[in-house]
Amino acid sequence: MLASPFAFLCDADHGFLLGRVIADEAELLTIAVDPLHRNRGAGMALVASFLDTAKQRGATTAFLEVSAENPAAIALYAKAGFARVGLRKGYYLDPQNRKVDALVLSRQI
Ligand SMILES: CC(C)(COP(=O)(O)OP(=O)(O)OC[C@H]1O[C@@H](n2cnc3c(N)ncnc32)[C@H](O)[C@@H]1OP(=O)(O)O)[C@@H](O)C(=O)NCCC(=O)NCCS
Repeated sequence: MLASPFAFLCDADHGFLLGRVIADEAELLTIAVDPLHRNRGAGMALVASFLDTAKQRGATTAFLEVSAENPAAIALYAKAGFARVGLRKGYYLDPQNRKVDALVLSRQI
């Protein structure tokens, strides 16, 4: 049986992640780690928790969007097994109102 729509928060001492599952697809909506506590594994732990919860809720594929100009997040997601499946040109506006592409990443769960 497929999961019904479900939004969830993965919490850590110095960060959080919001995700949701709809049918057999999970989406990582946002993730943030306190700047004073980055590069210590919190981001990876949050993504692992997201994948665990999504799997428990019946998801078989995970998706997310990330700015093409966010190398830290892109590296985190690559390490977590995500690969690029799409490109949204000019999807974000940066603080200078400049259009920035979004990468669409996915992985099986
Ligand atoms: C992206 C973010 C969540 C990473 O959190 P983190 O706790 O620092 O990540 P981790 O320590 O678990 O790092 C895991 C991997 O990500 C990559 N990574 C993390 N920070 C990086 C950086 N500044 N530069 C390059 N790679 C980086 C590395 O591959 C790292 O593995 P390694 O330590 O073995 O090299 C954090 O930088 C953040 O909160 N950024 C601001 C919010 C944001 O951009 N969210 C993403 C929106 S889509």
